[in-house]
Amino acid sequence: MKAVYFEEHGDLSVLKYGEVPVPEPAPGWVRLRVKACGLNYLDIFSRRGMPGIKVELPGITGGDCAGVIDKLGDGVEGWRVGERVLPVSHHVDWEGGQFEMLGETRNGAMAEYCTVRASQLMRLPDSVADEKAAALPCAYGTAYRMLHTRGGIKTGETILVLGASGGVGTACILLAKLTGCKVIAAAGSEDKCERLRALGADETINYATTKIDRYIRETTGTLLRGGGVDVVVNFTAGDTWAASMRCVKRFGRLLCCGGTGGYSAVTDIPYLFMSEMNIIGSTGWTVADQRACLDLVASGRLDPPIDRVCTLADGIDAVRALEERAVVGKVIVKP
Ligand SMILES: NC(=O)c1ccc[n+]([C@@H]2O[C@H](COP(=O)([O-])OP(=O)(O)OC[C@H]3O[C@@H](n4cnc5c(N)ncnc54)[C@H](OP(=O)(O)O)[C@@H]3O)[C@@H](O)[C@H]2O)c1
Repeated sequence: MKAVYFEEHGDLSVLKYGEVPVPEPAPGWVRLRVKACGLNYLDIFSRRGMPGIKVELPGITGGDCAGVIDKLGDGVEGWRVGERVLPVSHHVDWEGGQFEMLGETRNGAMAEYCTVRASQLMRLPDSVADEKAAALPCAYGTAYRMLHTRGGIKTGETILVLGASGGVGTACILLAKLTGCKVIAAAGSEDKCERLRALGADETINYATTKIDRYIRETTGTLLRGGGVDVVVNFTAGDTWAASMRCVKRFGRLLCCGGTGGYSAVTDIPYLFMSEMNIIGSTGWTVADQRACLDLVASGRLDPPIDRVCTLADGIDAVRALEERAVVGKVIVKP
């Protein structure tokens, strides 16, 4: 089968497009014919290599897969060949200490076929197109869990989203707007800000030219005068962390699901204790989170923005676009 793969960790130059063996489903697993694969920053982290996470080599990234069941492994019941599915990309066994992630710890969907556990499958309604479905699990599942399950966002609250142009960022904008929140979206260019306002963001901050903490202080007031926003979403961390803490209002929340800009960050201690904020971590998503997102798309209430749809042969360019921060919304690859 054709796949985008790498034999060693490294920069974009280690990626190849070519023939690899078709995977066979183990007992209890199924093989999927990939119809659409959604890219995430995870594809870049997995290819580069991450401390503490062992990636199967040769590696095939692609954590989000809308596909059709192509072959059942021994013992699989309740599923048949030809069904459209959207697997939950990860499998966690907390008691056994086992964590698997499609396209990270094992080969993923940047290929014509991939295998998943039958227990990870979720049926795909006819009304949801492959491209829209493949946009959902990692970005929308994570955003849903971070905003609702962990962050408890409420109607009327103001949410500031950093890195708002990416997959998780645009998901946060749309899910927060659906909840009736005011959204301030921060991104790295005026063009991106314009596109985020068109998506529904109430205000935008171009952090290439404007400091986010200054903008929030000037538009809402200082912390001691009740300024700040109810919730800040920050998955870029690094240099952005301390400034984002200064945007949280008294008793507000700072939500984090990643650190694209660096895992080490400075904590602004006075703002932490003066605001009495809660810093809340969030990771992954549950079957219920993914189903909630799928139901929103099926009912027409949520329409994930897709920056571009590429063929698998153009998959390396698709990853390049993500890595160069040249996208708004999701990048989808179709074998
Ligand atoms: N814990 C979990 O379960 C989980 C799940 C999903 C994602 N994540 C994490 O969430 C983050 C976002 O993922 P994603 O898939 O939404 O990524 P993405 O689609 O590539 O979006 C990332 C956005 O972040 C902005 N950004 C800010 N600083 C950046 C930097 N130093 N390098 C690259 N981009 C930067 C970019 O927008 P501008 O150019 O406008 O700044 C970019 O559009 C990643 O760190 C990812 O690992 C975690």
